[in-house]
Amino acid sequence: MLKQLKISTMFIIVVAIASISRISFKYKSGLISDLLLPKYFVISNRANSFSASTILRKGNGILFMETTNRMNPPSLVLCAIESAARVYPDRPVAFFMKGLENITTEEDEKRAKQQFPTLSSYSNIYLFPLRMDELFNNTPLKSWFDKVNPKKEVYWSHVSSDACRFALIWKYGGIYTDTDVISLRPIPQDHFLAAQDVTTTSSGVLGLSSHYQLAWQFMENFVENYRGEIWGHQGPGVVTRVVKKLCGMPVFNSTDDVMCTNISYFHPQRFYPISYPSWRRYFVVWENVPTFNDSYGLHLWNFMNNEGKSMVPGSNTLVELFYRKQCPTTYGYILRNESTHL
Ligand SMILES: *[C@@H]1O[C@H](CO)[C@@H](O)[C@H](O)[C@H]1NC(C)=O
Ligand SMILES: *[C@@H]1O[C@H](CO)[C@@H](O)[C@H](O)[C@H]1NC(C)=O
Ligand SMILES: *[C@@H]1O[C@H](CO)[C@@H](O)[C@H](O)[C@H]1NC(C)=O
Ligand SMILES: *[C@@H]1O[C@H](CO)[C@@H](O)[C@H](O)[C@H]1NC(C)=O
Ligand SMILES: *[C@@H]1O[C@H](CO)[C@@H](O)[C@H](O)[C@H]1NC(C)=O
Repeated sequence: MLKQLKISTMFIIVVAIASISRISFKYKSGLISDLLLPKYFVISNRANSFSASTILRKGNGILFMETTNRMNPPSLVLCAIESAARVYPDRPVAFFMKGLENITTEEDEKRAKQQFPTLSSYSNIYLFPLRMDELFNNTPLKSWFDKVNPKKEVYWSHVSSDACRFALIWKYGGIYTDTDVISLRPIPQDHFLAAQDVTTTSSGVLGLSSHYQLAWQFMENFVENYRGEIWGHQGPGVVTRVVKKLCGMPVFNSTDDVMCTNISYFHPQRFYPISYPSWRRYFVVWENVPTFNDSYGLHLWNFMNNEGKSMVPGSNTLVELFYRKQCPTTYGYILRNESTHL
């Protein structure tokens, strides 16, 4: 009897302790989830959230993009990106690809980057998905994008690429570069436009800080004067029209740069030392190889190259010399006939 009482008292005590501690645990866990967990989650989200906005927050990124779903970029694209990563080792080099999806963590990004072995050894190269609908939000391009029917556009990959570059430079700032530009040396200015010849301003290379008024003007002009069926009208056409309105067409009296209002306007020599009618000269052997000392990069005029000319190792062509120097990893892969994408 006494033993039974002892046992049942103990049982009651155990139950009581258990429920008290459960209450206090509940209370504690309530405390944790109300006060600590949100903070913890914010911190861990920040550590995990791997977005272009985070990586490019300083506004000093070098921006590249691919507006088709192609996931096997040609060697020139890889060379352009690698050369930028080498010329700007302390700046993020971002490659926005339409064919990439679902990159939200650093692990996603690492996995994506591993598909491109020539790029994966550069710690300052980052891959991000290119989501046009998101990119054009809160910009003048939104109204155009909502209306346009890609299937009816003759040059959709080009005009969408024109729109994207203006939106990217507006959103993130830094330097936008086409994927057929091999970087040679750092551009000393943060704000610049480049002439591609004396009558045309390039849309292939431009440098502005984020939310810079000029980028907004490009987007407005893009929409106001939209003629997607005229080649170049939405790219160099936009930039040239805005420049003309802003400062008249700048005149070069020497190979020096000039100013357009308060930003640098580069002489064609900076990026277009070989003009487009001569684009094949990149693919021949030169007796005296120019140093291109007063150029920041070489624009290879890929849109002219519908003959599929490419860098051939051992050919001793101009383009081979520059691949070897400016994108040695890409060059090595081609030399050894190794695949540049998995
Ligand atoms: C990306 O995420 C969406 C929605 O969660 C999913 O439908 C899609 O299959 C994912 N794509 C890839 C390549 O994982
Ligand atoms: C270039 O020459 C023109 C005509 O001689 C002159 O009006 C202009 O100021 C010069 N521009 C520069 C940047 O020197
Ligand atoms: C140029 O002038 C505009 C308008 O005054 C100003 O907003 C912008 O910051 C200036 N840009 C530079 C690079 O000084
Ligand atoms: C070009 O630059 C290289 C090194 O940067 C130098 O050795 C060479 O003399 C320069 N050439 C000319 C023509 O200025
Ligand atoms: C390079 O590799 C591809 C595929 O692996 C092969 O078809 C091709 O013949 C190779 N070319 C040379 C020059 O070895």
